[in-house]
Amino acid sequence: MDKMQQEVVVVGGCGHVGLPFGLLLGSTGKFKVSLLDVDQKKVDLVNSKRQPFIEEGLEAVMQTTIGKTVTATTDKNCLKTADFVITVIGTPVDAYLNPTINILKDNVEEVIHYMKKNALLILRSTVYPGASKIIYELIKASNKAVNLAFCPERLAVGFAFEELKKFPQIISGFETVAINQARDFFLEFTPSVIELQPQEAELAKLFANTYRYLNFAISNQFYMLAQSCGLDFYKIYDALKLDYPRMKEFARAGFAAGPCLRKDTLQLAAFANNNFFLGHAAMLVNEGLPNFIVNELKDKLDLSKKNVAILGMAFKANCDDKRDSLSYKLKDLVKLYAKNTYVSDPYITDSEFVDTATAIKNSDIIIIGVPHSVYLDIDIPADKHIVDVWNFIKPKTVTKSPGNIDNTLALKI
Ligand SMILES: NC(=O)c1ccc[n+]([C@@H]2O[C@H](COP(=O)([O-])OP(=O)(O)OC[C@H]3O[C@@H](n4cnc5c(N)ncnc54)[C@H](O)[C@@H]3O)[C@@H](O)[C@H]2O)c1
Repeated sequence: MDKMQQEVVVVGGCGHVGLPFGLLLGSTGKFKVSLLDVDQKKVDLVNSKRQPFIEEGLEAVMQTTIGKTVTATTDKNCLKTADFVITVIGTPVDAYLNPTINILKDNVEEVIHYMKKNALLILRSTVYPGASKIIYELIKASNKAVNLAFCPERLAVGFAFEELKKFPQIISGFETVAINQARDFFLEFTPSVIELQPQEAELAKLFANTYRYLNFAISNQFYMLAQSCGLDFYKIYDALKLDYPRMKEFARAGFAAGPCLRKDTLQLAAFANNNFFLGHAAMLVNEGLPNFIVNELKDKLDLSKKNVAILGMAFKANCDDKRDSLSYKLKDLVKLYAKNTYVSDPYITDSEFVDTATAIKNSDIIIIGVPHSVYLDIDIPADKHIVDVWNFIKPKTVTKSPGNIDNTLALKI
């Protein structure tokens, strides 16, 4: 078959994973791509070549692909002629901290109803171990001649294009025909594939995210430990990393947040029947960091008489994604105790937010919620206290007067 004629539908195609993935496929010129999504607002934005979220390189690729090789739609009929259907809808944990496989099951049931014979359905969402098997059995029971692969997405929000092009892709399936289809598909636009059994692939993805989450917890735990006894964590951190390669992976302290890391640690914990002490400990540590900051402030200052600014509400630097951001937990805690709370983020539109300069001007204490690069240029007057868990604000940007050196609370809480 002429590769130009291969049709792809990305289900959840206007989301953080689906959109860069679909655009990358479209940019190869080898596929006609439909970005199927239930969110009409996002579909309209994408079709008018406007990006619904910040993503490096997205804008330029949208200009060259949308309306040509890529179209966003809410119309499921696009599934009827697709050779490949990739589903990347969200897979959150529920209010009881359990995985939500039923969302994916319902989605697949709907999608396969439209799909043509021998087309390949690729699950690309991060799933609970065993979910692919459940979906495989569902397809078999439906008597639809649709093949199934599970090929987890490993990109980081904000850097999808670069990463998709250079990282090997993990592929898996229950039948040779599906594995072969998946391999051929990915090798059209990525350098290499790695084959695993489906449950191995499911665990590989969860291990990757949980590993990162545990790593951040180590740093956050050490940070709280050092700061609690009046020591500067980053003095120790810098000393032990300097010319000492064994500590290369030692992360900086900071909020370990966002829609994936904690969620996937919870999925792994559920899979381990909650016998996952390391994972649960990491959650207590990472989720406890905002509380630690507020408790330190309460111990050192009379918060009820202080105005507090939080700079950066996204879940990570230089992005507009606020999903599961710990800055919001911090905001709620600060609001409980401070005189006034001013919240700011240059990338997020919210009528409650103020601009950076106003937040700083009105506040006695400035907390860096997330280290957006733009904050490197801000000038914080010497009479303000700075709370910078990331150790991000460089001394040159902090106007200190000699008599006021304690304004950073010495600890850089
Ligand atoms: N964000 C990341 O960095 C990242 C990285 C790797 C893997 N993942 C995984 O990828 C999956 C998607 O994450 P995301 O961040 O892109 O989520 P997202 O919320 O940004 O995107 C999901 C999209 O799916 C759409 N959608 C929901 N139900 C739908 C349906 N029934 N039919 C069509 N569209 C539907 C939503 O409107 C949304 O646009 C999750 O399993 C996540 O764990 C995310």
